[in-house]
Parts: sequence; structure tokens; C-alpha cells
Amino acid sequence: MRVVVRPPRALRGTVEVPGDKSVSHRAAILGALATGPTEISGFLEAEDCLGTLRALGALGVEVTRKGPGQYRVGGAGLLGLQEPDNVLDCGNSGTTARLFLGVLAGQPFWSVLTGDDSLRRRPMGRVTEPLGQMGATVVGRSGGSRLPLAIRGARPLGGIRYRSPVSSAQVKSALLLAGLYADGPVCVEEPARSRDHTERMLAGFGARVAVDARGVTVTPGGELRGRPIHVPGDLSSAAFFLVAGAAVPGSEVTIPGVGVNPTRTGLLDVLREMGADVRLAARADAGEPTATLTARASALRGTRVGGSVIVRLIDELPVLAVAAACAAGPTEVGDAAELRVKESDRLHAIISELGKLGVRAEERADGFRIEGGTPLRGAVVQSWGDHRMAMALIVAGLVAEGQTVVEDTACVATSYPEFLATLNRLASEPCAVVES
Ligand code: S3P
Repeated sequence: MRVVVRPPRALRGTVEVPGDKSVSHRAAILGALATGPTEISGFLEAEDCLGTLRALGALGVEVTRKGPGQYRVGGAGLLGLQEPDNVLDCGNSGTTARLFLGVLAGQPFWSVLTGDDSLRRRPMGRVTEPLGQMGATVVGRSGGSRLPLAIRGARPLGGIRYRSPVSSAQVKSALLLAGLYADGPVCVEEPARSRDHTERMLAGFGARVAVDARGVTVTPGGELRGRPIHVPGDLSSAAFFLVAGAAVPGSEVTIPGVGVNPTRTGLLDVLREMGADVRLAARADAGEPTATLTARASALRGTRVGGSVIVRLIDELPVLAVAAACAAGPTEVGDAAELRVKESDRLHAIISELGKLGVRAEERADGFRIEGGTPLRGAVVQSWGDHRMAMALIVAGLVAEGQTVVEDTACVATSYPEFLATLNRLASEPCAVVES
């Protein structure tokens, strides 16, 4: 599948974005481990999160779809999962693979996990190594650091204080979930605090969780109690419309009900630093803070991005690179080597593809430099099979002269199946059209 993009006259209107991917995964997993049912609304019905529901089904959890984005997860209880009778396929989803490894580390049976070509290349040792220290047995490719992996849990696991070398919410969450099965506290420290959805939701389900300046600690004992969860709109999906709204002349885009958890809002900070008119209104907080976001067309200027903000905008860097290409003056991004182990090597991918659109840019070991200010020219570009690359390049096509063709775009369904329909709703006539 390929998408042909032409610049719209402007993007104007109010659109909703689907539920947050990270929160959807966690709602389903904690619901499964709880006693009593969990009713979820706003669940993201995209491939990654549907894969998590399927994997829970394979572990004996009852999942019922009650309507669009509405699910009832029958709580199996902490001790109620069953040995799966087949391999658990995590598809493209790093969150599914790593969070399940944490849960399965506490189960007294064997499970085997695998994933698609991209996920089988991604590092799992960052999770399996500490889970091994806690007492789980993990065997698999590359010394147990690449899928497919087989895991047999132990009960109880040993408590641990783990200083993670990377800031990764997936690593942190895997260990906190395993901590529910430990015989003592599990504490995770990380260089900069990653998204905190797991610790917020664990506390909401009644787990004993403590957060301090050094890290997060789960103290086992007790049970999780099922509860209703509303999943906020995904800021990582809204990001494409925020950048498009800021970069396409004459635009004004409003998105209500978006999650604005401070561990996720780095993009808003950086866009503002770049001169973008991005506003928050109607703030609310029901466990996860939300707001209505509005982006208006703005003259953007280049900036420097690095340090602790990186983990707060890690998934938004491809589309931020597009904003940088539209800005006056250079933008430098550093401390972002983690981008090399995402669904694609996003540092290499985004700089290669923006180069085809005439952007002057240099890839660096842990980031990039984009000169900005040169008009983008339409060209044929590749998604590298990566959903966020595909959507970022479609946004680039909105500001490029002539026609841009983005190839290999079926991957958009990983996180945002309705992306094109929503984008076209903001334009007076369709600006991004599928060509098969
Ligand atoms: C996620 C954490 C981040 C992020 C990913 C979702 C999560 O990954 O990039 O899209 O839901 O915990 P890392 O933990 O690998 O940084």
C-alpha cells in the first residue's frame, strides 16, 4: 500500500484521536491480573493493542468486546493465568513483548513469545537480564536477548533494586509487573523518568506503589482490584496533527481529550520553543491528565533538543524532524540513540527519507542536525515498515511542493488505522489518498 500526498490549502477543524496505546496495553494487562472485571472505554483498536488482547486470551483471560473501543476484561486474578498452548505472537509491539515477559516471569509455566521481523531484531536483554536476576528462566536467541524467547517463571521471584542503564518505560513496567510476584520490594531506577502510566494504574488498582526522586518501588502482597478505566486520546497520534497544524499555512487544528501526562509532553514544550502556537484548554484529570489541544499555523524556528526531554518525546522525534525541516535555522537533536532500536532505526530512516524530499540534514550517532529553511520537494519515500515513520512522512508530504508518494504504509494500522480518514477530514478536499 502507498499513499499519495498533495499539499492542502489548509488544515482546519476539530478531530478526535484514538485511545492512548501505552494506556490501552496496561489497562488490558492489569485488568487481566485483577480480581473482578475491568471495563475499558476508549481502548485503542489498532494491531498492537489487539495483539495484547489476543495474548491475554491465550493465557485464559476472558475478553469481551462490548462496542467500539469498549471491552470487558474478566479478571483472572494474580494467580489465575493458564499455560498457553501455542506461541504468543506479539506482532510489531515492543510493549506487548516486554510487559508480557514481566508478567510471565511470575507464572509457574512455560510460555514462548515471538514477533514480526522488526520485533525479532529489537533488544530484549534489557528485560530478560533483570528478570533472570529475579529468578525467571529465559532461553532464546542471542543468549536470551532476542525473540523468539521461552520463559518459565518462578514463584516467588526475588525482590530487586535495579538501576536500568536506559530510560525505558517498557523495562520499568516489566519489572514492576514481575514485582507483583516477588517476595520483597522491586525498585527500578532509571537515568531520566520514563512515562509513568504503569505506576499510576497499579496504584489505581490498589497495588502498593511508591515513587520518589530515585525511582519507583512496588511492594508485593494483596491483590489488584478490577475497576473502570477510560483511556485518554493518544498524544503520540495527536502529534502528527499538531505538527501539521503548525506547519501548513492557514491551519488551525483542535483535538479534545488528549492525554497530557507530563512524562509524555516533551513535544509540546519543544514545539513552543520553536515558536509554534500550541494551546491547552479544558484540562481534566481522572488518573491520567487530559486537555484539548489546539495548534495554529506558525513561523517555526530551529532549536536544540537533548537530555531529559528526549524520553518525554521519544516516539515523536520522527514528526519533530519534519517540524525542524519546516523551521528557519538549524535544529540539533542529541541523546536519542534509543531511536535506533525502535520499530525501525528511526535516526537513519528519517534522515534518509527527508533527504529525498530535499531537506539538508546529517545523521549523528545519537541524533541528527537538520538545516531547515529549504522548501521541501515532493518525492517517493519509504516508511521502513514503521508506523510512525509512515505518518511523519505523510505530514512532510503536506508541506512539500508537488506530489509525495509514501510507500509501504499498511504499517499505519499498528497504532492508528483511521489516520488518513481523520487527516482528510481536516482538508477541504482529500490530501492523502491510498493507491494500491
Ligand atoms: C512505551 C515505551 C516506549 C515507547 C513505546 C511505548 C510503553 O518504549 O517508545 O512506543 O508503552 O511503555 P521504551 O520503553 O522502549 O522506551
